[in-house]
Amino acid sequence: MARMTVPRFVAKKAAGEKLAMLTAYDFPIASIVDEVGIDAILVGDSCAMTVMGRETTLSITVDELLHHAKTVTDAAKNCLVVADLPFMSYHVSPEEAVRNAGRFVAEGGAQAVKLEGPPRRIGRAIHAILNADIPVMAHLGLTPQSVHQFGGFKVQGRDESARARMKSDALELEKMGCFGVVLECVPPDLAQEISSSLTIPTIGIGAGSKCDGQILVIYDILGWGKTRFAKTFADVRGLISSAVGDYIGEVKAGTFPAKEHEYK
Ligand code: KIV
Repeated sequence: MARMTVPRFVAKKAAGEKLAMLTAYDFPIASIVDEVGIDAILVGDSCAMTVMGRETTLSITVDELLHHAKTVTDAAKNCLVVADLPFMSYHVSPEEAVRNAGRFVAEGGAQAVKLEGPPRRIGRAIHAILNADIPVMAHLGLTPQSVHQFGGFKVQGRDESARARMKSDALELEKMGCFGVVLECVPPDLAQEISSSLTIPTIGIGAGSKCDGQILVIYDILGWGKTRFAKTFADVRGLISSAVGDYIGEVKAGTFPAKEHEYK
């Protein structure tokens, strides 16, 4: 099977095929996710919260996320790998945006980058990155880097003017050349309207079933998830907890290590 590329990813929408995406932040998880057949991995800045235990995504730096991107791209041989551009890595100037996006491709091995926000705020950065031939995935709705502006992690696009704005933002992002749009925590009927008005795929998270694809944070499907839109597909957190408990018990009882764990 040929490796997933940006054009193949986009073509799946026209072919009527749903796209499955997950985040991953390290080699062991990325290799499993890739082997099993995911279409794309996002090295999300959610790494700050899920892996680093921080309250928001805002403090993760380019160097920190780049380190995770490299481990993921070393593991993922089949799927598309998209890397998030961290907060403040594309806001100051288009030049800085291109330099940072370029690092995720050249040093991190990603095939594309994702930026959060509407075109009226980050359009110049998107243009500059696209001009460097780096594919861009957009992100609308609850963009976690705007958490302080929103006053919390809140559903977006609830009133008429916000809905109209999000629809025209999505169309403009497609016109600019973005190859996909993540729609996070938006009402499902709005996500459906946006999806049917675009030729590029929409990737939903907490945006209902009518998007062209779905993305979730890997830990949210493995037993760490506390959000309404996530589903525990396997309680890996519970398994780890009981394995560690068993290990502690056996070490304390002196039953581990046993004879078969010793060298002759
Ligand atoms: O950082 C992230 O994980 C994201 C999501 C879309 C899952 O941006």
